[in-house]
Amino acid sequence: MKPRRLLVTSALPYANGAIHIGHLVEYLQTDFWVRFQKMRGHKCVYVCADDTHGTPIMIRARQEGITPEELIARSYESHVRDFSDFEIAFDNYYSTHSPENRAFCEAIYARMVESNSLTTRMLPQLYCEHDRMFLPDRFVKGTCPKCQAAEQYGDSCDRCAATYSPSDLADAHCAICGRKPVLRESEHIFFELELYREYLREWLPEHTARDVSNKLMEWFGEPLRAWDISRDAPYFGFEIPGHPGKFFYVWVDAPIGYMASLKNWCDRHGESFEGWWNDPGTEIYHFIGKDIVRFHCLFWPAMLRCGGFKGPDQVFVHGFLTVNGEKMSKSKGTFISARTYLDH
Ligand code: 2FM
Ligand code: ZN
Repeated sequence: MKPRRLLVTSALPYANGAIHIGHLVEYLQTDFWVRFQKMRGHKCVYVCADDTHGTPIMIRARQEGITPEELIARSYESHVRDFSDFEIAFDNYYSTHSPENRAFCEAIYARMVESNSLTTRMLPQLYCEHDRMFLPDRFVKGTCPKCQAAEQYGDSCDRCAATYSPSDLADAHCAICGRKPVLRESEHIFFELELYREYLREWLPEHTARDVSNKLMEWFGEPLRAWDISRDAPYFGFEIPGHPGKFFYVWVDAPIGYMASLKNWCDRHGESFEGWWNDPGTEIYHFIGKDIVRFHCLFWPAMLRCGGFKGPDQVFVHGFLTVNGEKMSKSKGTFISARTYLDH
């Protein structure tokens, strides 16, 4: 039997929180699968990294009085320790805040520009004049417009599951300082997903499980909505070339982090990145949770296609770990970190 070449990833954990047993559902199943493939004699590389960018990381660092770089360095150490004590055998564990990742982001962005896949338009968004920043949905709280539950996030209600936009909340306030935000416009850059409709329509049923692809195909009844890939300063991330004060949205550079981690592994092992990612003989497998399907099965294959890179061969999607039938929760006392599990 000819050995196959497999590149395998698990989703990159955010650098602003501890590894918990929900995460481990994924890392363990990926690890078992990788060990099995290696035992079969296949050449298999399992890469992962910390997902280090975005507003929550910037805010958390600010609250702790440290720089985001210090925060992500600390998380990196504790994540690596947890994974190693769970015997998750990554071939490479890297970081999205890396020179390799910046270079891939810039290269893919350049291809987006060249292929006319980008548009810009003004977007009104809630802005906190006290914290001097645009507030992502999760940083706006208020009363649900549908069921009147208090203190709900700006995108959806935990009680009645309604989804809405943050400006629909009654008494919207900034989750950081509690003050009332104002609406302010700024220019955003959009990736025109609709240009990749035909590619995605063919790609989906071949490369994901039927239930996943059927669910996503529901979106194809109308034009695919353009994806906002820019965020305004202050933001912890990579600045967009030619757009001072604008940064790549964390979900742009996160999956590109898979490439960065592979590149870093290749450089340390005398292997060629191109020979791995873009060799038609290489099989690329992503393991992810069901909450991040649209990033991995719509935006990501479209970005790769645009950038001239091979798309994933299969995206394996799993459900959530629940405790007493519910999502793990810090406030309910049902949150179990990897370290707590190991200690006991
Ligand atoms: O949902 C999450 O936890 C993200 N940090 C996963 C990123 S996976 C990949 F795209 F980088
Ligand atoms: Zn504020």
